[in-house]
Order: sequence, then structure tokens, then C-alpha cells
Amino acid sequence: MERLSGKVAVITGGATGLGAAMATRMAAEGASVAVLDTDKDSGAQVVASLTAVSPQSAFYPCDVTSEDEVRSVFSAIADSFGKIDILVNNAGRHGPAGRHRLGRGLPGLG
Ligand SMILES: NC(=O)c1ccc[n+]([C@@H]2O[C@H](COP(=O)([O-])OP(=O)(O)OC[C@H]3O[C@@H](n4cnc5c(N)ncnc54)[C@H](O)[C@@H]3O)[C@@H](O)[C@H]2O)c1
Repeated sequence: MERLSGKVAVITGGATGLGAAMATRMAAEGASVAVLDTDKDSGAQVVASLTAVSPQSAFYPCDVTSEDEVRSVFSAIADSFGKIDILVNNAGRHGPAGRHRLGRGLPGLG
């Protein structure tokens, strides 16, 4: 059963891991999927595997920490798809976070 027929899904961090799995499943359920990621090779590979069942799916290189890139990519998605039904804010790094020392090298701070 195609539960997402006619829907447009946007998945950040969709090139690998959980994001790629969600993109694959949503495409299988009939959605057109916009995959956003900094990893261009994996993103292109994932979308190539989706297009057999979801021909409109597309990869958009995008670093979600850049507001300019996000604005520009969402504008391109709006032009191509005309709407967004599902947004998955998945991009990120799993695992121990690095330690940051506030004030290092700043005048007046330790
Ligand atoms: N895997 C887990 O057990 C788990 C548990 C809790 C939370 N999460 C969260 O779920 C999300 C996915 O986890 P995963 O295990 O699939 O990770 P993953 O590392 O396999 O995939 C993350 C994807 O996000 C992309 N990405 C990273 N920074 C980005 C950025 N600034 N802009 C665009 N894309 C970016 C990476 O290139 C990668 O393709 C992460 O946000 C993670 O923190 C995962």
C-alpha cells in the first residue's frame, strides 16, 4: 500500500544511516523525496536508488548549519515540488560530542 502517494518529503542528513533508511521507505510508500546532505557522493547514490520507484526524488547538497544554503535549497525545492508535506530534521552527528573550552584564547578569559 502506498501511504505517501502524492506527498513531498524533505529529509536532512538523508545520504546515510537513519536518513537514508527513511528516504528509501518514504519513496517506497509513494513520496517524492528531497534528500539534503553535505555528503554528495552518498546523497547522489541514495537518490539514484530511489528514482526507480520515485522518479521525482532529488539530491540537494546542503550544510544545514548554513542559513544561506538552507534558504537557497528550500527555494529550489519549492520551485521543483511546489509544496512540502513532510520535513525530517535528521542531519546531525551521533556519538560523543567534542569538548569545547569556552574562553580559550580570548582576552580576559582563562
Ligand atoms: N543512530 C542512533 O542510534 C541515534 C540515536 C539518537 C539520535 N540520533 C540522531 O539521528 C540522526 C541520524 O543518525 P545516524 O546514526 O543515521 O547518523 P549518520 O552519521 O549515519 O548520518 C547523519 C547524516 O547527516 C549528515 N550531516 C551531518 N551534518 C550535516 C550538516 N551540517 N548538514 C547536512 N547534513 C549533515 C551526514 O553527512 C550523514 O549523512 C543524527 O542527528 C543523530 O544525532 C541517532
